[in-house]
Amino acid sequence: MEQLRESSILVIDDDNFILKIVNRMLSADLSFKTSLFTTLSGREGLEILKKEEIDLVLLDVNMPEIDGMEVLEEIRKIPSYASVPVIMMSAIIKPELEAEAFKRGATDFIHKPFTTDVIIGRMYHHLRFSYLQRSLHEEVKKQTALAEERLKANEQLFNETVMALAQTIDAKDQYTRGHSLRVAKYSRSISRISGDSEEEQQNVFYAGLLHDIGKIGINEQIINKHSKLTDEEYETIKTHPTIGWQILSLIKINPTLSIGAHYHHERYDGKGYPEGLKGDQIPRLARIICVADTYDSMTSKRSYRDCLPQEVVKEQMEKGIGSQFDPLFAKIMLKMIEMDTGYRMRADLN
Ligand SMILES: [Fe+2]
Repeated sequence: MEQLRESSILVIDDDNFILKIVNRMLSADLSFKTSLFTTLSGREGLEILKKEEIDLVLLDVNMPEIDGMEVLEEIRKIPSYASVPVIMMSAIIKPELEAEAFKRGATDFIHKPFTTDVIIGRMYHHLRFSYLQRSLHEEVKKQTALAEERLKANEQLFNETVMALAQTIDAKDQYTRGHSLRVAKYSRSISRISGDSEEEQQNVFYAGLLHDIGKIGINEQIINKHSKLTDEEYETIKTHPTIGWQILSLIKINPTLSIGAHYHHERYDGKGYPEGLKGDQIPRLARIICVADTYDSMTSKRSYRDCLPQEVVKEQMEKGIGSQFDPLFAKIMLKMIEMDTGYRMRADLN
């Protein structure tokens, strides 16, 4: 027989003779080690179960005071004993009795008198099965914890990589330090207030962080130019959504990332770029980012002007409802402006 770890066995039988026989049988069998607990009373048996860590119970059906069926039911109510093997014993050969025992959660049923081979064989079989079940359960738990840990590490890596990329984008433009993170935060707030799920809010946040990634492909001199852009330079700037979309399309695991970059300069009235999409044709996430992006541009210092006063920002947002902006998201942004009584939502304070 395969060697098992030392098992604790509890025998509950009002017949002292049975307790002695089981004790003798187990001591004679050297194939597996056991610690034996015996008791003549069902109530005391339940007390032992609570105090000790029992691996298998041999339980007599007919006992005074509280019988084996009731004891069995009580055992199954204890969470840690929900699947511990319980072998019922009885001298009465009645199929209904056996059926009742199984219905109440018995693992096996043995008829008295029994031989050493039968009792040892059955006990060994159930202990081994229960041991394998426990090992499997522990292994599944271990593997699940490991997988969760890896997932967490991956999420952290993704988060930190996106943050680092966002800083790279902002570092190209001396006037837009922190712009990407602020746009991401405002976009997430709009998404949350509009009733999006946690996952949608997170997607909006990441797409907001990377919306201007295409600027990596634009000449720094054009991006940082103090004087008015020539038509040609403006056309060059206008290519950043397409460049951003091409870059982010490489990230197949999160296709929403590229949507923000591609469509954040579309306008609700169809007069935006690069595709000239109109209204609901523009992906929802991009309509959110467009509002947040414009808000942050107005509340940031530029080479040609200071941060605009809050009243002016509010007016511009109102003016853009239905033309530049999706009315729903622009109104949410206006609500956020209204709540921001100290005018904290601006670049020099964030
Ligand atoms: Fe942009």
